[in-house]
Amino acid sequence: MSATASLSDASLLNVMGEAVHPAHARIPDDIVNCADYERHAAHHMEAMAWRHLQGGSDQGLALLRNRAAFDRMCLVPQSLADLRGGHTRTHLLGKTLAHPIMLAPVAYHRLAHPDGELATVRASMALQSGFVASTLSSYTLEQIAAAAQETVQEMGWGAPLWFQLYSQHERAHTLALLRRAEKAGYDAVVWTVDAAVKRSSFALPPGVKPVNLCEFPEMRHTARVGQSGIVLGTPLADMAPTWEELRWLRAQTRLPLLVKGILSASQAREALGCGVDGLIVSNHGGRVQDCAPSPMEMLPAIRSMVDQIKPGTPVLLDSGVRWGTDIAKALALGAQAVLVGRPQIYALAVGGISGVAHLLHLLRTELEVVMAQLGCSRVEQLVPDLIWCPSAATP
Ligand code: FNR
Repeated sequence: MSATASLSDASLLNVMGEAVHPAHARIPDDIVNCADYERHAAHHMEAMAWRHLQGGSDQGLALLRNRAAFDRMCLVPQSLADLRGGHTRTHLLGKTLAHPIMLAPVAYHRLAHPDGELATVRASMALQSGFVASTLSSYTLEQIAAAAQETVQEMGWGAPLWFQLYSQHERAHTLALLRRAEKAGYDAVVWTVDAAVKRSSFALPPGVKPVNLCEFPEMRHTARVGQSGIVLGTPLADMAPTWEELRWLRAQTRLPLLVKGILSASQAREALGCGVDGLIVSNHGGRVQDCAPSPMEMLPAIRSMVDQIKPGTPVLLDSGVRWGTDIAKALALGAQAVLVGRPQIYALAVGGISGVAHLLHLLRTELEVVMAQLGCSRVEQLVPDLIWCPSAATP
């Protein structure tokens, strides 16, 4: 049996204790939003992989907070606006995006479907959603770029393709990944800074590997807390990336460089001082530090700091985005675009390439409906005044 086949082996069990369901050839009629994909996906993934996908750190407070921050904000309808000529186009790092929705870097898509990143990137390009390939992809960054380019050729349109970089133990190895990404045609580099030290006990099943890193003698996934649990004073902490590494990285590439994992105005200022081209406000989907604030709570202060220092710099946001209304809220508070993490994996597990394309379509149409209800014919018209937050005293 091939390694790929072993992942969809009917003897594998999902969290319900049933045989893992293979992806549907036709999307079930009862899937009409992201929550439906999540509900279905539990049946389509092996139990350990599902728990790994869904998990948050420690008590899971950061994970819950990500949703709570969206849910407590209301959007105030603005009827009777003129919506003629409306669209969701937005501009990002010199490119025009059809809509402000991107797929976040998520490791090992083959945990959900044998086609893994090749399916997600194809769906993403076809639906004109930007795609960020993880250092920890389960197909190589070159295979992903080739699949993206093929799709762009077939469709006659596409979207930005970015490479997410995790620093490696040796700078020469970090640089080798960067050069491969440049050569393969990626449009930008996303340097993730919030996961250098992270608890994880998840063991990859046979057939799924960090294929981009196999040539390196010492592979740094995201660094994990070892069995002893001791961190400080170990090579793990000593080799965690620093501001100095960011300045070094900035000098190594002409590609636009974004930093992912910023959650405060002071960190945003420091990153801009290092010459980065954009920020991704993120708490890694609540997976790395519990009790972290949600990106939505920190976005206004970060946007205002960026506007003071380097106006026009893109600020993106992820963590908890599940609905078109979430996207409208993030844009209203100053994000240029949002990224979705777990939802792309739900859709991939349930429906392969068609599932991911369908999910992206659903999110986009939800955004369009809420924009119309908010009287916005363009994304720039989404402004903070459209958001109302009840005070604690409001029932
Ligand atoms: C991630 N994320 C992530 N981020 C990154 O920069 N590189 C990576 O390899 C991964 N891998 C990864 C695996 C899994 C299973 C998850 C769920 C997440 C974080 C990801 O890019 C994003 O920040 C969050 O997923 C956003 O939160 P939501 O949309 O999942 O709530």
